[in-house]
Amino acid sequence: MEKILVVGAGFMGSGIAQVSAHAGYQVHLVDISASIMEKALRNIRWSMEKLEEKGLLNDPAEKVLGRISLEEDLSCASRVDWVIEAVLEEEEVKRRIFRELDRVAPKETPLATNTSTIPVTRLAENTSRPERVLGLHFFGPVPLMGLVEVVKGEKTSQDVFARGIAFVRSLGKIPVQVKRDIPGFVMNRIFSAAFREAVDLVDQGIVTPEDVDVGMRLGYGWNAGPFEIADNAGLDTVARVGQTMKALGAGHLAPGSDLIERMVAKGHLGRKTRRGFYRYSPDGKRLPSA
Ligand SMILES: NC(=O)c1ccc[n+]([C@@H]2O[C@H](COP(=O)([O-])OP(=O)(O)OC[C@H]3O[C@@H](n4cnc5c(N)ncnc54)[C@H](O)[C@@H]3O)[C@@H](O)[C@H]2O)c1
Repeated sequence: MEKILVVGAGFMGSGIAQVSAHAGYQVHLVDISASIMEKALRNIRWSMEKLEEKGLLNDPAEKVLGRISLEEDLSCASRVDWVIEAVLEEEEVKRRIFRELDRVAPKETPLATNTSTIPVTRLAENTSRPERVLGLHFFGPVPLMGLVEVVKGEKTSQDVFARGIAFVRSLGKIPVQVKRDIPGFVMNRIFSAAFREAVDLVDQGIVTPEDVDVGMRLGYGWNAGPFEIADNAGLDTVARVGQTMKALGAGHLAPGSDLIERMVAKGHLGRKTRRGFYRYSPDGKRLPSA
């Protein structure tokens, strides 16, 4: 059985671990604290049980969970066939992790990043194997979203790019190939352009978040509106994406107003804190707007 290391057990890392275990891989999951990993495991169990109730699991939830082991550090990278990094969107933290992974992982193991914005090439520079570094950009919530962008860095080999595409398919997801490495890749750039305008219109008091979301669902056939997507993603992550886009010279895609930063400063991070553009009950259901 192929082994995968997922670094970061937050919203995205726990989802990536879940879908990989579901697809039959042996998964090692690591984060900076045991309590975060325990929480990730509880979330994965909750999600697996929901999928099991709906008859959407191939194997019993317990069997899938049995394929996930929690790790204390990156030393298990020495035994894995794939690494997927999904830590917070901070370039310095990711660079440090890539240096460490390059030291520990077998030379043939591909190192993938789930970064939303940072060009893969910049992370690959921290390794001695840039031809084996690529982007696997999942969408959240990972168990429910069918898309993964596979990003080719400047030095990613055609073989590793093709293996990334095959790996995504093995998870039951559809790959979109990003053939040149630019900040925000493709989907986030398109979403960010719409979100930038939506945030600025709301901050000027021209429209409510709810009306924008209704409008994009009914008028353009989106499954979820931009503020629903942002609340699910976490407004702290959305703020970091905007800051990174600016730092990488793609500031025209980041919101012009500081509405998101103001919400983050108040601790309104979206669904995870039960308050963002919407409010949520303790079991995660959206509450009616006042
Ligand atoms: N939230 C989304 O919808 C979304 C979508 C696609 C991609 N991403 C990207 O995925 C990555 C993770 O985002 P998230 O939403 O899961 O964030 P998150 O805050 O939920 O999780 C990040 C995790 O990284 C951990 N971490 C921090 N430093 C670490 C270290 N040195 N070693 C191990 N773990 C460490 C944190 O403890 C936290 O659990 C980011 O790069 C983000 O841009 C997010």
